[in-house]
Parts: sequence; C-alpha cells; structure tokens
Amino acid sequence: MTAVLEIKDLHANVGDAEILKGVTLTIRQGEVHALMGPNGSGKSTMAYAIAGHPHYTITSGDILFNGESILDKEPDERAKLGVFLAFQYPVAIPGVSFANFLRASVSNVRGYKDRARIEAEKSTVKKEIGSELMPMREFRKELVTKMDRFNVDRAFAQRYLNDGFSGGEKKRGEVLQMAMLEPKIAILDESDSGLDIDALRVVADGINKLVADGMGALLITHYQRILNYVKPDKVSIFYKGRVYMTGGSEVAHMLEERGYQWVEDELAKVPA
Ligand SMILES: Nc1ncnc2c1ncn2[C@@H]1O[C@H](COP(=O)(O)OP(=O)(O)O)[C@@H](O)[C@H]1O
Ligand SMILES: [Mg+2]
Repeated sequence: MTAVLEIKDLHANVGDAEILKGVTLTIRQGEVHALMGPNGSGKSTMAYAIAGHPHYTITSGDILFNGESILDKEPDERAKLGVFLAFQYPVAIPGVSFANFLRASVSNVRGYKDRARIEAEKSTVKKEIGSELMPMREFRKELVTKMDRFNVDRAFAQRYLNDGFSGGEKKRGEVLQMAMLEPKIAILDESDSGLDIDALRVVADGINKLVADGMGALLITHYQRILNYVKPDKVSIFYKGRVYMTGGSEVAHMLEERGYQWVEDELAKVPA
C-alpha cells in the first residue's frame, strides 16, 4: 500500500498568533513534493506541526496518515508510523555519537524498545542491559553498508551529534538518518540552505535514491537550486500560512524555466 500524508485545512497557533491559516496538502510515498515560499510564511511551523512539536497548537483541521488522524499521537508514535522530519536547525548533542543516536532512533522506530518492554513485563528475570536496542553487529553492518551507499564518510559515525558539523555535514547526517530509519514520508526543511555544490549533490543524490526506494519527500525550500538535482512531481506555493497553489509537472516545469522569480510573480497576484 502506498502511504499518504494528508494535511486538511490545518490551522495552528504559536502562542496567541495564528501562523497556519488553513493548510491543505497531500504527500504520497514515492513522490517528491516541493513546497516553496518566502521566509516567515509558516513553512517550518507546518513541518513542526506535522511532527507533533508541542510549541504549536492545532486549533482546527486535521493531519491524516493513511486516512487516520495522527493529531493525538506523540511525536515518537508519528515517527513509528514512518513520518520523519529533518529540522532546519538540528540540535547538537556533545557526548552522544552519531552512531549511538542512530542506533537509539532505529531501535525505537523498528519497535525493539516496545518488544523489550513487553518482554520485561512478562519476565521475572532481570533484563539484560542493551536488550532494548537493535543488536550491535546487525546495526553496524547495516550502518556501514548505508554509509557507503549514500557517500557518507565512515568516520562520521563516531563524531558527536551535530557538534561542530558544517552545514553540509549536518545535511549528510540527515540523509544517513533517513537511510537508516526508512521513513515512508520525509519532510525536509530547507535541506539545501547554505550548502556548497558538492554537499548539495550528495544530499540530492541521497534523496533521489531514497525516493527511488519508495520514500515520499516534502522538500521545503526557499530556493529553486536543489530542484535542479531533485525533480519534483508536484510543486506547492506557500504564502502567509496557506498553500496558495499546487500543480504537477507543468508547475515544476514552469519553475524550471522561470526560477524563483516565477513564484514571486505568482505571489504578487495574491490579494493583501
Ligand atoms: N516558536 C516560535 N515562537 C514565536 N514565533 C514563531 C515560532 N515559530 C514560528 N514563529 C513565527 O511564525 C511565523 C512563520 O515562521 P516559520 O514557520 O519559521 O516560517 P518559514 O519557515 O516559512 O520561514 C513567523 O512570523 C515566526 O516569527
Ligand atoms: Mg523555515
């Protein structure tokens, strides 16, 4: 079955301010959906709302995953369903290696933690340490295979999470995270910002491979540049807390020909 994430007339507040004013958007597995719009229009707010960030209060509308509302699900339950959010500004955690972070997230998403908890509840014998994690050898094998496939340097795994990472390294880290977590739908918030051309190629190449494997991607971007390397199936234009228009390949094509200027021309038509 093809997974579908549907956002329906979503309204959300930050504090007292309404930031999302009726967002409607559909993201399907295996598709690239580009979301473009000016800074401050609410793109990141929407991404956080989908992930279930507690700062954002949904006031009306719905978010459906395969037809079922996920609004009452915690962020980790949403991740288990296969919804992944790559943050625009990932946090650094000195003392936690990238590998350990990945092992913990993979174990959570793949249900190792839940199974360990159920086992521990059934058992009277004291639980073995580390048994809630994916077995180390299995994990390392998969990690190394994926680092090679996605052109991530092997030394990367031992570095502390995002600590002193360059913009490009953080984004390569995101690709590796997606490769390991195998989300059905990934939301990439400005994965292209601040990247040099080599890093942009690695990130774009990674996204293309993951989409070919069946991942759906919502590619939030302020610039057209990454769309030269990742071809969108759909393009939505976001403005002032709403999706102003959505189109298929013809819109993608228009964007290719006329660049971001075209988005700005379209937005100039929106009544104030
Ligand atoms: N945590 C927050 N606290 C206060 N204001 C916020 C917060 N997050 C977003 N906003 C406000 O919401 C609006 C949309 O921001 P954002 O979603 O980051 O837009 P974009 O990602 O399109 O640049 C902005 O006016 C921003 O100041
Ligand atoms: Mg943003």
